[in-house]
Amino acid sequence: MSTITLDKLKTIKTLNNISESGLNVFNKDSFSVDNNSENPDAIVVRSFNMHAMEFGNQLKAIARAGAGVNNIPVDKCTEEGIVVFNTPGANANAVKEMVLTTLIASSRNLFAGVAWTKTLDGEGEQIPKLVEAGKKQFVGKEIKGKTLGVIGLGAIGALVANDALDLDMDVIGFDPFISVDTAWNLSRKVQRAMTIEQLFANADYITVHVPLTDGTRGMFNQATFSIMKPDVHILNFSRGDLVNETDMEAALESGKVGKYITDFPNEHVLKMKNVVPIPHLGASTKESEENCAIMAARQVKDFLETGNVKNS
Ligand code: MLT
Repeated sequence: MSTITLDKLKTIKTLNNISESGLNVFNKDSFSVDNNSENPDAIVVRSFNMHAMEFGNQLKAIARAGAGVNNIPVDKCTEEGIVVFNTPGANANAVKEMVLTTLIASSRNLFAGVAWTKTLDGEGEQIPKLVEAGKKQFVGKEIKGKTLGVIGLGAIGALVANDALDLDMDVIGFDPFISVDTAWNLSRKVQRAMTIEQLFANADYITVHVPLTDGTRGMFNQATFSIMKPDVHILNFSRGDLVNETDMEAALESGKVGKYITDFPNEHVLKMKNVVPIPHLGASTKESEENCAIMAARQVKDFLETGNVKNS
């Protein structure tokens, strides 16, 4: 834990994981380090779960250096008049690159193919022959001409949609918070914005970019899987609880879901053959951590100094 002190003696406590480099960059401008404040005006946090935390009576703001705010008790903060910021868009490019990387790599069975090839270590001169004999099990699918359904057309979803079009995919989109027409107007490059049922029924690949709320929790479940095409590939770089994992296990078992690429592996899906488990790396780049840290620190600094609430 470290504390950074702003000019005018206002303090921000960082609880864990916040990018050192981001803070260092900011340090150069206006921060000095102070490890002694126990009653901060603001807290900047990345992954630390704050639900059980007691807040000091001076706390005015919490900034999440990332997109999701499910580790922050937003309702409690609202009741207590504590402003909650996140950093929309600051890690969007990192997540987009990971989505496209894993979309293509898993469609080509690259992860399984690499893992299998490593098992040939020790086979000596037989390796080239074994490679040629074994490669048939990893024949993949091209994404060109296939339909990608993007759920959530915010900063990340719109970037994914635009780049997927450049890869010659057909892209369809849905956003749970705006109407089909508005989604279409906002995200001009999405070829068709549609209802979620239409998206589920038409997509060969589905990528989800919505926050976890009571309305989105479990949105991938037995009922929604039943509308989808067989062998659909689903990418989840948003939150694990968007998916009912028991239903996902059954859908993977039956082949309804051909691949589940998840940044949130758990005991239900990790054992399944067609899961591509990723250890929450979607936004983990040096650049994105720096962007998030700087945006969060700026939001808080601006708020403490001027009272402005600017979530960007
Ligand atoms: C986010 O919420 O921005 C991503 O899941 C990455 C993170 O948790 O840091």
